[in-house]
Amino acid sequence: MTLTEQARTILQSNDRGGYTLPTAGLYPFQWNWDASVNALGWMAFDAPRAWEELRWLFKGQWRGGPNDGFVAQINFHEESDTYFPGPGEWGTDGAPGTEGLGTRTSSISQPPLHATMVRWMWMRAVKNAGDVAQADGEIRVLLPKLLAHHRWWYRTRDARNTGLVVNIHPWETGMDNSPAWDAPLASVPATARPYTRRDLGHVEASMRPPKSFYDRMVYLMDFNRAQNFEPEKIMAACPYRVNDIGIISILQRASIDLAALCDEFGLAADAADMGAHVQRTDTAVQALWSPTWQQYVSKDAITGQLLDVPTSAGLLGAYAGFARDLEPTVQQWLGETPYGLPSTRSSFERFEPLRYWRGPVWQHMNMLIATGLKEQGHAALADAIRHRSSQLFAAQGFHEYYDPLSGAGLGGKSFSWTAATYLHWIAN
Ligand code: GLC
Repeated sequence: MTLTEQARTILQSNDRGGYTLPTAGLYPFQWNWDASVNALGWMAFDAPRAWEELRWLFKGQWRGGPNDGFVAQINFHEESDTYFPGPGEWGTDGAPGTEGLGTRTSSISQPPLHATMVRWMWMRAVKNAGDVAQADGEIRVLLPKLLAHHRWWYRTRDARNTGLVVNIHPWETGMDNSPAWDAPLASVPATARPYTRRDLGHVEASMRPPKSFYDRMVYLMDFNRAQNFEPEKIMAACPYRVNDIGIISILQRASIDLAALCDEFGLAADAADMGAHVQRTDTAVQALWSPTWQQYVSKDAITGQLLDVPTSAGLLGAYAGFARDLEPTVQQWLGETPYGLPSTRSSFERFEPLRYWRGPVWQHMNMLIATGLKEQGHAALADAIRHRSSQLFAAQGFHEYYDPLSGAGLGGKSFSWTAATYLHWIAN
């Protein structure tokens, strides 16, 4: 089988009739930002199936109540006992806004990539005339949902219009175990209640987060539930509140893309509204520049301290359209690891090449970072990143992540968004 055939087969075998599992066993549900990348991958060979992925994602969007527009990190479309924490643990059944949803969900969100992926899907449809009519219809249905979702982020996570949204759980960032969260997590109590992890039955412990980390994840999950998911209470008292440069950059880019789609589909007032948010963030993000690392970093929203840790999230600046030129910094990163871009810079003291988000390469991150650099005029650098990604795919296939020093494939196997990234970015 060619790599393209292998990648298609992975999406097809992880397909559960409308939504795609990240990988069977380890992640037996539909994940938020995975779904959008997966839709983009499906779009390369099966447009109707691509739009279906997003329809299934938005089945879980909360409607009405203080969390109107919320899209969860996980949609639990079916039962499974191979994953912790499952739907019962999150306690969202009957929460305001969940009445009549087509699925149970968790209570935290994930990086809102969707509007960008939808715009890229639209660009692909336009090139392939046969897909335009369906894309047009799907986007008209999606736009109000995407707008509601962006407004949920701005309204509940940046009520004072600072331009920098806050996240309340490391899992919201999608970069779960990043060393950037070590300092703010030190102020989060460990849960005292018993629970049983399931991840260690699928993947070696050396590649997964430690117990001390999970104890805090559970504490924050339970905290959210104890506040009855009310954003104002959570934002006032949650012991973990962070301005994550990853979410901020991804939301920024998605709002730019959403504004462009709104303009194209006759929603001028909504486009202007998104544009105002974009402006505010453009200015505010300058406070997240690290002179030490010459890149953007995250900030502890409780203490006001910069979380001065060089992670790949901070290289999304070009993708987000932020002013600073990241080219020299990305060049340095590439020079330090043969199979980069790593998720944490290898010269940083807490870099770990094998462990979750503390070093390994995620291919969709390479795609986003390279795309941004290319748009900013750094085509050669973007091609260098793409070339490295191609080598990893060719040598190792489609793993969850890769060791940036040896190039070895790690974590879950037959991984959907890795395959989808290949189909969108490399195969075509
Ligand atoms: C892990 C990753 C997260 C991803 C999920 C499913 O939790 O950290 O980013 O969405 O797996 O792939």
